[in-house]
Amino acid sequence: MSLIQRDLNCLWHPCAQMKDYEVFKPLIIKRARGSIIELSDGRKIIDAIASWWCKSLGHNHPQLKKALLQQLDKFEHVLLANTTYETIVQLSEKLTALMPSLKKVFYASDGSSAVEIAMKMSLHTRQIKGETNRKKFIALSNSYHGETIGALSVSDMGLYRDPYKELLFDVAFLAPLPYVLTRNDPLWGNCQQHWDILKKQLDLLAHETTAILVEPIVQGAGGMRLYSQDLLKRLRDWTKQHGIHLIADEIMTGIGRTGKMLACEYANIEPDFLCLAKGLTSGWLPLSAVLTSDEIYYLFYDEYDTGKAFLHSHTHCGNALAVSIALATLQVMEQEHICRYVSELEPLMFRYMSEIAEHTGKLENVRSMGAIVAADFIVRDPQQRVGFEVYKSAVKLGALLRPLGNTIYWFPPLNIEFSTLQELKEITQKSIEMVKF
Ligand SMILES: Cc1ncc(COP(=O)(O)O)c(C=O)c1O
Repeated sequence: MSLIQRDLNCLWHPCAQMKDYEVFKPLIIKRARGSIIELSDGRKIIDAIASWWCKSLGHNHPQLKKALLQQLDKFEHVLLANTTYETIVQLSEKLTALMPSLKKVFYASDGSSAVEIAMKMSLHTRQIKGETNRKKFIALSNSYHGETIGALSVSDMGLYRDPYKELLFDVAFLAPLPYVLTRNDPLWGNCQQHWDILKKQLDLLAHETTAILVEPIVQGAGGMRLYSQDLLKRLRDWTKQHGIHLIADEIMTGIGRTGKMLACEYANIEPDFLCLAKGLTSGWLPLSAVLTSDEIYYLFYDEYDTGKAFLHSHTHCGNALAVSIALATLQVMEQEHICRYVSELEPLMFRYMSEIAEHTGKLENVRSMGAIVAADFIVRDPQQRVGFEVYKSAVKLGALLRPLGNTIYWFPPLNIEFSTLQELKEITQKSIEMVKF
């Protein structure tokens, strides 16, 4: 029996209608290097979406591999309660140096858990401070923060949440957002008109809210949409005025993706909680982190019997193999000047996608930020799954694109070579031309 048949006999793949696999079989991976994934039949395809936004330094980076092997020689994993080791302290020192006010770091294994940890910490501080009326979370419309129940509750994506709505709690979603296509849009610097509307919604909820969650600057699963940095600034001011926490979910944007280590830097703000995952280990191993301030940390710090301890744990909190890779990732980011390289990639990626839009006449709303560029298919028949069709064509031609519905985007490794980007441009253009819509 073929490997594919054996796979389909027993595997339930993520984020998929499994019936689609009747016509679009799983790709058999042989190995991966840099931005390229090699298939068992010898074909090479460009990992244009960094394997779900995590392979920031590409596949098989030698320095990351070395760090992993060195750690393997020492130990793989020991529980983090009451233990420590050099690498995790070094990593924690580096992470807490990212923003002056974020002085403490708590580890978990994936993005959704990080989001829920930040939410739990926020809610717990309210009990500690006797602010028990503050129970509500606010998020942005079109937000995405993960798939577990708490994270899904603060995600405004019907497609992912509707079947489970009985399990979800009530969250207020703010709209309309001041979306922009580039930083040249006047809205980027001033979103006063949107703010006037949003502030009315916020003021009504101020007394009962514990935290607001944002994906700073770029909403990922919501279609790679960019919004004004001015909104973040105003939200930060408003939350400070009202004693409400700001949770910055930088799971997708963090660690260099937008051309800065953190997207919050565009608005010059520091949140109360910062969530990192994905690029934190350059997608080698699952690891997430929640950073917070001393002010919040010391609310929990007391005698055990006061019940203030944050009694949250995952088996793999601070897994040593993942931690060794995360530390090496941060070192490589510095040594290879990755943020500077991303700022060179940005105009190139924008130009390439704009040229495809112009050439094919099939794309609109080209937008970009750092090493992210996206555009929407101009679709006449809403029933047609254009994104899926283009995805299949691109794989045939040599790129793993996987559009988000009818939004096509590139989100490659941050160190993708210019020549690979040029190749990706040609493949993307041809794949769009192969589909009739
Ligand atoms: C902004 C954001 N938050 C949270 C998550 C959830 O992370 P994970 O899939 O690791 O649970 C994602 C995943 O795509 C994300 O993009």
